[in-house]
Amino acid sequence: MPNNNEREQWGSRIGLILAVAGNAVGLGNFLRFPVQAASNGGGAFMIPYFIFFLILGIPLMWIEWGIGRHGGKFRHGSAPGMFDMLWKNKAAKYFGALGLFVSTIIMIYYTYIESWTLAYSFFSITKTYFGLESFTEMKNFLYGYQGRIETPYFEGITLAYLFMLITFFLNFWVLYKGISKGIEKLAKIAMPALFIFAVIIAIRVITLGTPDPSIPENSVSNGFGFIWNPDFSKLGDPKIWLAAAGQIFFTLSVGMGTIHAYASYVKPKDDITLSGLSTSTTNEFAEVVLGGSIAIPIAVAFFGITTTTAMAKGGAFDLGFASMPLVFERIPFGEFFGFLWFLLLFFAGITSSVAMGQPVVALLEDEFGMSRRKAVATLGAVVLVSVQLVIFFLKFGFLDEMDYWAGTFGLVVFALIETILFMWVFGADKAWIEMNDGGDIRIPRIFYYIMKYITPVVLLIVMIWWFMNDALPILMLKNVDPVNVPYIWGARIFMLTILLAIFWLIHTAWKKREMN
Ligand code: PHE
Repeated sequence: MPNNNEREQWGSRIGLILAVAGNAVGLGNFLRFPVQAASNGGGAFMIPYFIFFLILGIPLMWIEWGIGRHGGKFRHGSAPGMFDMLWKNKAAKYFGALGLFVSTIIMIYYTYIESWTLAYSFFSITKTYFGLESFTEMKNFLYGYQGRIETPYFEGITLAYLFMLITFFLNFWVLYKGISKGIEKLAKIAMPALFIFAVIIAIRVITLGTPDPSIPENSVSNGFGFIWNPDFSKLGDPKIWLAAAGQIFFTLSVGMGTIHAYASYVKPKDDITLSGLSTSTTNEFAEVVLGGSIAIPIAVAFFGITTTTAMAKGGAFDLGFASMPLVFERIPFGEFFGFLWFLLLFFAGITSSVAMGQPVVALLEDEFGMSRRKAVATLGAVVLVSVQLVIFFLKFGFLDEMDYWAGTFGLVVFALIETILFMWVFGADKAWIEMNDGGDIRIPRIFYYIMKYITPVVLLIVMIWWFMNDALPILMLKNVDPVNVPYIWGARIFMLTILLAIFWLIHTAWKKREMN
């Protein structure tokens, strides 16, 4: 029996926008984006990136706000209930399972990465890594921290574990405080702080000029040139297009179920068109202008384009956790800039990770009538147990396997499902009215056609292409170190268990409802 208490609501318009922007602006903007751009041809990457922003990112953002607010009118804060309201079919709710699966799996590994940023802001201000001279040493420092290798810097995994616990506790405390007193309040502090930190660091980067005058080509301006000069000849490479689509999804948090959850706490007649647009543009500003002005230009200025590209291709975290610290050692007040950089990452991370928890919390509250306290405790227990696997099997590729299936592939599938349900099953005309209802702006008419035809077709193409190109080889364990094979299977069985548990929860919730 769904509880009949007042459903939670956002406290203010600005709070809502900051919270959804906080959901979108995350580690993806400052760590993932520079790595993707640098390893996919720099400027060449930006063209498909902007195209996908227009035909996938923005339309999906409006679709998800629309589905979310519509579901919220019927007291549903997660995808199963929302889909049930769009399509009068017994199967509809089960399609929503993916929306819970993707966000929960990402939350499990993302909070752990987030805890590294907190640790590194501490290492910066205390100058712990100062004195490490080379990229290899800095990388070993990171690997030592993560417990992948034995190093003189750390005694095993203890410190990483401690920071994980702190991060974990903060996340669930915010979730426990709820929508307006927890998530919104956090966003109102963390988002402005994050923007100020990013601007300070970006200004510092821009004023670096040519750190070593004897190597004039290693300059900040060449770093910007690398991101902004498109090399059109590279556009024929499908890899660049797929990487760009993946980045748009990840950074805007679309295809995850989290935008829906946040939008379900909007009042039925409140604007979503302008809010959807402003959160998307805020995210793009944070990504392209701020995220693009830090890690790459700084790395090019100090190490040159070739090394920067190699660093980016070497590993997802090398640019942020190894090349940036090397630079902080070399600039005046580097410990202070390092502290700001990692704290900025932490703020960006936590406003995203709480969003990943909200769909499950909403499911337990809305469909099972659980108190928020109980719902948050239940999710907390699951995440805390699961994160152990990520921590201890990190070096065997456990995290990467989860990141691929949930953070790269799963969200395209979910986005395709929701687009078809909303624009075709529920109906494009009804969906259009639903999205524009109460809107402070009208969505330009061209998006009606984009959402109805272009977005689903492009999603289908991307999905199939991705499946052939990456998913199939990954599934068949091509190019995998044999040592890792059992762990990768472990990760798959683990994910399957979570997915089945979600199906079972949905099944149980609706059965209970029918009996009442
Ligand atoms: N968009 C976030 C980022 O850029 C990540 C995220 C994923 C947020 C899933 C919510 C849900 O880091």
